Amino acid sequence: MIYDRRPDDFERITTRELADKFIDEQIEAIKEQVGDKKVLLALSGGVDSSVVAALLIKAIGDQLTCVHVNHGLLRKGEPEQVIEVFGNELGANLVYVDATDRFLDKLADVEGPEAKRMIIGNEFIEVFAEEARKLEGVEFLAQGTIWPDILESEEGIKAHHNAGGLPEDLKFELVEPVKILFKDEVRQVGLALGLPDTMVFRQPFPGPGLGVRCPGAITRDRLEAVRESDAILREEFAKDGIDNDVWQFFTVVPDFKSTGIRDGKRTFEWPCIIRAVNSIDAMTAEPAELDWTFVQHLTERITSEVPGINRVLWDITPKPTGTIEYE
Ligand code: XMP
Repeated sequence: MIYDRRPDDFERITTRELADKFIDEQIEAIKEQVGDKKVLLALSGGVDSSVVAALLIKAIGDQLTCVHVNHGLLRKGEPEQVIEVFGNELGANLVYVDATDRFLDKLADVEGPEAKRMIIGNEFIEVFAEEARKLEGVEFLAQGTIWPDILESEEGIKAHHNAGGLPEDLKFELVEPVKILFKDEVRQVGLALGLPDTMVFRQPFPGPGLGVRCPGAITRDRLEAVRESDAILREEFAKDGIDNDVWQFFTVVPDFKSTGIRDGKRTFEWPCIIRAVNSIDAMTAEPAELDWTFVQHLTERITSEVPGINRVLWDITPKPTGTIEYE
């Protein structure tokens, strides 16, 4: 059955066996709900929507269409991973929309964080709705809603972003197969479905993506510096085996330049800020204590490999006073 609420006696999914049992139950429930109709899913590549996609592929195969919208603010390799895992390995009907220019053109010269968020959110709905209209006979919309989303909505902490944002002419019934699960349970289910660890154990990543790590008006060259420095950071944390020890880490490239020197010549370039924090629930956070030799190595790589960066700064601010993200 598809649960409406988490039953009090629901056994927390902590093992492969329990995950397999949940998957079998949900496959039956999804088949019953959907019948022979078509389902649409906005696939971001995040844990929740990826697990829902893998579950639906198992349950209804090519009755599912996944739409992956690249807003140009994804991390290096993310769209490629979605295409590889879902398009090639799992054989999903995958519509990939590279809307980079559309988003970045709209964001040009927009400085305010809230204005940036609004543009990204609205444009996302517009692109997704355009793709939905191109497909015929879709009656269901699948979502990666999880149990904390519902609890937080009920407690008035934050509005649960559901299909409410879609235009009037698109009316879908929702399919939410992981609705009663906590995040760690969604991860167990993802592993049992064969998704790669890099997808299942992803760090939190904001909807506006690298846009909130490129403070102020986003330019393509500074955005590229954020993306490249982030990729170096991820590579080095993984190489050092500490990527699962630190709760969240990323880079930020602020919109100011300072004087430096390279090969005996003056440079005037951006700094790159490293933000690495430990947290339990993101409500508070402590700066992670990184090994000094490791920090020096990161600095050496970022300043020599990322165009436009001549300095590296290390953010040692806890939350509060600083939030984890910059915007
Ligand atoms: P903050 O910056 O509020 O972030 O300390 C808390 C956690 O939520 C993640 N996150 C977001 N942060 N906009 C944000 O500013 C978003 O849309 C968003 N989505 C997720 C953030 O990465 C941090 O882990």
